[in-house]
Amino acid sequence: MNIKKYFFIPLAFSGLLFAGCESSKTVEGSVSLIPEVKSVEFGRGTLPLTSLQGIKCDAEWNDIVGNFIVDLSGVTGIRLNKVDISSADIVIVKDADLSGEAYSLLIENDGIKINSGTDEGVSRALSTLLQIILTAENGNLSSLYISDEPRFGYRGLMIDCSRHFWTVDELKESIRHMAFFKLNTLHLHLTDNNAWRMAMDKYPELTEKGTYYKDYPELSGKYYTKVDLKEIVRYAALYGIEVIPEVDLPGHATALLAALPHLSCNGGHFEAYPEEMPLSSRKRGNENMICVGNKASYKFAEDVVNELVDIFPSKYIHLGGDEVPTGVWQKCSKCMALYKAEGMKSAGELQDYFTHKMREIVSAKGKTMLGWDEINDRHAATPDDVLAIWRNDGISQQKEALERNIPVIMCPQHGCYMDWGYAGNSVRKSYEWDPVLPEVTKEKESLILGGQGALWTERVATQSRLEWMLYPRMSALAEVLWSPKEKRNWDSFYTRITSYYPLMEKLGINFYEDDALNEKEFAPTGEKPALVRAATVETNIPLNNPYYPEYAFDGRNNSFFWGGSTIGKGHHFTVVMTEQVLVNEIEVITGDSKDYITKADLMVSADGKKFEKVGTFDEYGQSKVKIGGKSVKAVKIEVTGQHTCWPIIKEIILK
Ligand code: ACM
Ligand code: ZN
Repeated sequence: MNIKKYFFIPLAFSGLLFAGCESSKTVEGSVSLIPEVKSVEFGRGTLPLTSLQGIKCDAEWNDIVGNFIVDLSGVTGIRLNKVDISSADIVIVKDADLSGEAYSLLIENDGIKINSGTDEGVSRALSTLLQIILTAENGNLSSLYISDEPRFGYRGLMIDCSRHFWTVDELKESIRHMAFFKLNTLHLHLTDNNAWRMAMDKYPELTEKGTYYKDYPELSGKYYTKVDLKEIVRYAALYGIEVIPEVDLPGHATALLAALPHLSCNGGHFEAYPEEMPLSSRKRGNENMICVGNKASYKFAEDVVNELVDIFPSKYIHLGGDEVPTGVWQKCSKCMALYKAEGMKSAGELQDYFTHKMREIVSAKGKTMLGWDEINDRHAATPDDVLAIWRNDGISQQKEALERNIPVIMCPQHGCYMDWGYAGNSVRKSYEWDPVLPEVTKEKESLILGGQGALWTERVATQSRLEWMLYPRMSALAEVLWSPKEKRNWDSFYTRITSYYPLMEKLGINFYEDDALNEKEFAPTGEKPALVRAATVETNIPLNNPYYPEYAFDGRNNSFFWGGSTIGKGHHFTVVMTEQVLVNEIEVITGDSKDYITKADLMVSADGKKFEKVGTFDEYGQSKVKIGGKSVKAVKIEVTGQHTCWPIIKEIILK
């Protein structure tokens, strides 16, 4: 390869021509990338994969590139050597004109050249290159020139490490998957009622007691040492990913109080609880906040922040702030003394006082405080903070924030909550969501730093399940956040993502193959749908209006019934047909993540009165039974145990 050539070829792209002087037309070509790149032009000729032998970069990128060599070889078998410039097939050049995550990538018939100005730019270029190699047709790469940069600087994923614990190796696996789709921020929710997962020098009892469950020894004692956390930070940096720690205060703190009960309003005994413990056995669940009237709480928070900044180089420290009821504070003499001394007019102002103190502590360390959107409920947030907007569709919270020039990261439940089933947040819904909500003016748009998916793990206990909840939804979100908005196109994404399934398998990503993937987001109209057969649907499960019971028997898998309360023994959902029908097989698809029915019997009846049990439901809320040609008048889901979710039933299918 003639290396010199690379230094003038990009100029050819300033005009129409990559085809050289032979023709005045742009060359047609295609490349399949997720997320879609900002611009791509095609040239003539191809580069055989077999010719890729060596890669060369500046010494400062040796670690990133060394890591890429290992990954590439693991996934494709292609073994690149790190070589000197005279024999490299892939050259990575430092380019002072490119900032942030911007990069360019040129493929010609004798080699590849990447330009970047930063570590992050190199990482994004290598993700693109990996996708190009994995999607190569007939072992050849098309000649092309890509010029790329992200729409948003913040493209995140939050993983809840408290409800269930993810080992360092599992988090590394998640980091590799994020990098493949050019996500750049991993937000670790490290503490909650269930567990305090971060070992601290000053308070060793936090992980001793905060991850200890008397009746669940197999789940106890799981936490990250400082060495673990530093290793996660180091590894993520190899992929240009920043790790943001969250310590959730002043609420969601039962595990903290189990270790340091003197930080509660009333003292006494607290116990952390695993998600596996029934709700009725969990103690003092509604007293999960620290005392904001106690000076010791602020000293503690300062100590925590001191240790966080020692581990995490991230610009942000996330201090939570979500879901803080004030009832306990209102009965606490210390909290009420503060209330009076500060002339407060509502109990919520106690949280605001705490928020202001946290900002002082975090900014004294040169960091920016990030918090859930509740910290701005009474405008306690300032333009120096960043809000993670999560409630509902986030519209009113975004408006409130932008009016006061407060930067935001958008992760509303609708579109971004990856613990919701694919019924409630479909891949298409996430893809069609946008962080810039209606009515945002041009001058306020820069306050929207980006968005992130949030995976709460109450009902997600294994890495394969975690991936199944995330992908392909995170791939969709990655495109929303990276690609120019005008390039977003569902049909194109649908084609690309389905063609990526074998690639995701190769990468070891366990993903959800949705039979309703191409369907528009289900939005109930307020009118009951026609049923797939002549029947009536009866249930004593309260309705989450207007997700009517009839949606579970309308012949469509993406529409669904949604209950409006938790369910338990005694609840049923029954379809009674007008006429008996001959049935060989029954399949029931309930919600597919959090909102599924697992403790229930599937019953059939020939006369609509006397029922016999024919099946049960699996751990993912599905039931499929062959009943070998029975005359059936009615099918019933009879709930046999308590569920913590509001149940979804997508469809009852009779074959
Ligand atoms: C949250 O979902 N409580 C941030
Ligand atoms: Zn108190």
